[in-house]
Amino acid sequence: MFVRASHLVLMLSALLISACGVDGKVSKSEPQEEVPETPVEPTDPEPTDPEPTDPEPTDPEPTDPEPTDPEPTDPEPTDPEPTDPEPTDPEPTDPEPTDPEPTDPEPADPLMVNGDFENGEVAPWVGNSGEVLLTNVASQSRSGANSLLVSGRTQNWQGALYGLTNSVAEDSTYHISAWVRMDNLASSDVRMTVKVSDGNGDRYEPLAQASATDSGWVELAGNYTIATSGDVAEIAFYIEGPDAGVSYFIDDVTVTDINDDDLLRVDVDHLSALAEFPIGVAVPAGDAGNSMLNSPERQAIVEQHFSQLTAENIMKPSYLQPSEGNFFFDDADALIAYAENNGLSVHGHALIWHFQIADWMANYSGDASAWQQMLETHVTEVASHFEGQLASWDVVNEAFLDDGSYRNVDVGNDAGSVWYQNIGPQYIEYAFNAARAADAHVDLYYNDYNISWNDTKLNAILTMAEDFIDRGIPISGIGFQMHVDKSGPGKAKIKEQFQKVVDLGLKVKITEVDLRMNADGSATSLTNQLLLQQKARYQEIVEAYIETVPPSLRGGISVWGIADPDTWIVPLYGNPDWPLMFDDQFEPKPALQGFADGLAATDAEEPEQPSDPAPTDPEPSDPQPLFVDDFNAATSWANEGADGQLAATLSHNSAEGTMVVDVPWASDADVVHIKTWFGQELDLSAGNDISLRVKLPADYVADGNLVVQVYIEDSAYTPAFTGWQMASGFVAGDWTTITLSGVGPDFSFGYDGGVDFTKVHAIGIELVANGKDPAISGAIEIDDVTIH
Ligand code: XIL
Repeated sequence: MFVRASHLVLMLSALLISACGVDGKVSKSEPQEEVPETPVEPTDPEPTDPEPTDPEPTDPEPTDPEPTDPEPTDPEPTDPEPTDPEPTDPEPTDPEPTDPEPTDPEPADPLMVNGDFENGEVAPWVGNSGEVLLTNVASQSRSGANSLLVSGRTQNWQGALYGLTNSVAEDSTYHISAWVRMDNLASSDVRMTVKVSDGNGDRYEPLAQASATDSGWVELAGNYTIATSGDVAEIAFYIEGPDAGVSYFIDDVTVTDINDDDLLRVDVDHLSALAEFPIGVAVPAGDAGNSMLNSPERQAIVEQHFSQLTAENIMKPSYLQPSEGNFFFDDADALIAYAENNGLSVHGHALIWHFQIADWMANYSGDASAWQQMLETHVTEVASHFEGQLASWDVVNEAFLDDGSYRNVDVGNDAGSVWYQNIGPQYIEYAFNAARAADAHVDLYYNDYNISWNDTKLNAILTMAEDFIDRGIPISGIGFQMHVDKSGPGKAKIKEQFQKVVDLGLKVKITEVDLRMNADGSATSLTNQLLLQQKARYQEIVEAYIETVPPSLRGGISVWGIADPDTWIVPLYGNPDWPLMFDDQFEPKPALQGFADGLAATDAEEPEQPSDPAPTDPEPSDPQPLFVDDFNAATSWANEGADGQLAATLSHNSAEGTMVVDVPWASDADVVHIKTWFGQELDLSAGNDISLRVKLPADYVADGNLVVQVYIEDSAYTPAFTGWQMASGFVAGDWTTITLSGVGPDFSFGYDGGVDFTKVHAIGIELVANGKDPAISGAIEIDDVTIH
């Protein structure tokens, strides 16, 4: 294993690098011949990693992180000795500990300052020649808002340079990565070069090379081990290559000490506790040799870090209906029972897919309506069996191809879909309608791959989703599988794609994320470099989600597998690979830390007019609710205490997906109002059904020491209260469903201040202590508030 040199800072004559101090003319390779443009995403252009660095990834022990040991190496500074015996001076000049002298070597400069250009500055970047012009611009960026434009170049070796002289240590190995994009030139060779000036003179060492384009970002990355001799004047790296006159952008530059224990350390107690939305994992079950139900190691991970499960295989059609009309639920039921016992929710995967369907289904014979019936039978039986037990379903999986067309017949590597071939595109809505009819509350997702970077495909899916919304076909959100590569797509692209879904008011769920680290087969072991790259990547994906998807639209993030030995990637592609957050010893990888760090990103703001999943023209048979809050993602309700009312504390129970209302009841006359706004005006003038579920504390007494009353409010803030009748029918300590039919002009309200039913903008709940003894205590839980 590579032994890290003590973090000695190179003691140098340390001239700060300045543009004029660097003369590139001694160097330089000629520009290479133009390489044909390559697709940018998500291929990985990494050069092969030279070091067979130690494979063992995680050493979770905090091996004493502090490099800064404070003990004074020479404690006695001022000599207290009475060197001159005469006590002429009255004060014994007490040896004040005034030695501000740097007894320790100064801490090293940070490895990279201003690598993302988000501070709007250029420094400490400089040109490697006086002609080069560096400008911090907002016109391009790979992540965040800014990048660095490098222009004014008059030689192919000229470019932006970053000095490392004072921040790197002899013998240490650094991973240097920069993203490059051409400005107004379709493609060009670009190179990253390390410059060292020491006792041996100047040398220029190529570190990485790639073909950059003006349509996407490409990564230049490589490892460099510092080995100098004599006096070191300069260590730096720079980006060169394009012809004179050609400009380029750089962004997201990182320099990482790949053996830095601080970076490799994982310190995450409970991943899912860091999020208010489901953090899920796909698990093997049933007959699988690695079934988690027989694996204490896997269970330990799941129970410690996750709040949701997806069955990796056993809820797919071939498992649930292996022969026509014979449904097999035992394995799935066992998994769901495990989930329930451990406070985990379950995401159903998948009702309809072209793959993993039984032979009888693939070869079914019948006309379009027979096929439709066969599809609906499957969806209805399965969704009904699991009714009320799942948070969400992937209703239809992978119905589109990368070119935006419906998956139809086999094309190249893309298998066809018997559903499309026999039914046409309507099969998708048949599946969604049947799923909603079978389970009124479960979230319904359309799920697909490559949509975190493929515009054509995502746009086609969103065109379908918009049409569904317009026609009242129930759809809750879009599932992004996110089987992506270590180097692409970038954060900005991912955010752009999420945003399109958010703009439709649909939920976003990352359903199957894993990170392929060795697509080109160049790695033979899991190096520290790969571990750190993977950490950064998990972090940026999670950040993209938090920064773009507002809490009310977060369906959650699920990883496709528990630990690396379980991954589907290796059997599929053959190369060794390590796409998941736990290693082959079931130890957490830095990726877990990256995921956790990503969860600290700043929340996206709720849209002004939040989700508008409601069809504006509800047909009578329209199964889509006008409003639903299942509290699976978060709680957006507010306390509406007026004068004399109590303030409740509202929180989100993310394990259960409910809202918890905690009231500091003080007297038996206390009243609490909580409510949420729709962000639009709903028309309830035809009379609508309102339902919700309420769980009262155990000290509720049957004669009613608590009243739960629903109210609606119009946009002039005029309310109507449904009445006191809900004082009855509750069970202490358990859930009760309240259903109110025909809430509208003909409903018999307890109080109606003259509400305008065409302009209802909020729904609220009033909790009243009702003058009864004993006063109630303990929190009240609310779930599934729905207006149909
Ligand atoms: C994969 C499983 O992980 C494998 O075990 C199985 O052999 C094939 O399917 N997209 C999906 C998942 O929606 O169902 C796939 O799961 C991975 C790709």
